[in-house]
Amino acid sequence: MPAKLNLALCVGPLAEDGYHPLTTVFQAVSLHDEVTAHLGEPGEISITMTGEGTDHIPVDDSNLAVRAAQLLAENYRDDRLGVQLSVKKSIPVAGGMAGGSADAAAALLACSVLWDLDIDPEELREYGAELGSDVPFALLGGTAIGTGRGDKLVPVLSRGSHHWVLAFADFGLSTPTVYGRFDELQPEGGDLEMPTELINALATGDSEELARHLRNDLAEAAIDLQPQLQTTIDAGLECGALAAIVSGSGPTVAFLCSNEEAAMALSVTLGTQGVARGVRRVVGPVSGARLITSCA
Ligand code: C5P
Repeated sequence: MPAKLNLALCVGPLAEDGYHPLTTVFQAVSLHDEVTAHLGEPGEISITMTGEGTDHIPVDDSNLAVRAAQLLAENYRDDRLGVQLSVKKSIPVAGGMAGGSADAAAALLACSVLWDLDIDPEELREYGAELGSDVPFALLGGTAIGTGRGDKLVPVLSRGSHHWVLAFADFGLSTPTVYGRFDELQPEGGDLEMPTELINALATGDSEELARHLRNDLAEAAIDLQPQLQTTIDAGLECGALAAIVSGSGPTVAFLCSNEEAAMALSVTLGTQGVARGVRRVVGPVSGARLITSCA
């Protein structure tokens, strides 16, 4: 299940429901968590997680993938449904790349197949939206505009592939904390107009044009909370990246590169500079949640 970047993240003022209205452009990138589902004892939903940073992720009912399985079981009123989920994590935990949402999306898809439920993709995305704002996009993948909380999606034409270098931080950032800081810094919110220039750049496939129109209204708040993000951004730009964006609410920073060679060079340089916990080269867009394995 893929991680996401927000190529545009336009954030309006805090609404009464506790969320911020968004106009966002998502792109799924080639960094995946792998979720395996085995039939479990009737009524038992369990999860194990492996990979960096998973020690502190709860494996009880507060785990988003567990909640995804429970949501389906409850809606199908079948207390015999059981599943053992195992998650192999590569998407950084609390990294602004929707890792938890990707796992929930995978759990929805896997359980719907394992339990032989009659659900179409649109319905699955509606269940996803109940779990978190980014879950519907993790199911859809590709490149898409999100409005509402980011859960109402329309696919966007995107030609070719873009080469990104991701710089992972050695700290996490909590999404509500970043939104809270955004409210203090910019209580009136940003404008929610459709980012047409960015959408046009995606249609042409021109990375240099795309680089000119990347936007993230949460970046200032994320950098204000963790000023070392600016050092990472500056390092990548000095080493030839076309542009840098904080991914979602951070702290992962994504650098857009002109081609594969440039991305390879940047990942090597950044890797040796020690400005990030880790560096990873990815391409986007890639497809959404895909069924690879399902064992009874
Ligand atoms: O939907 P999700 O559970 O991912 O959101 C986590 C938190 O991020 C919310 O509780 C809210 O504080 C904040 N958020 C927001 N506006 C959005 C999406 C998330 O304020 N559009």
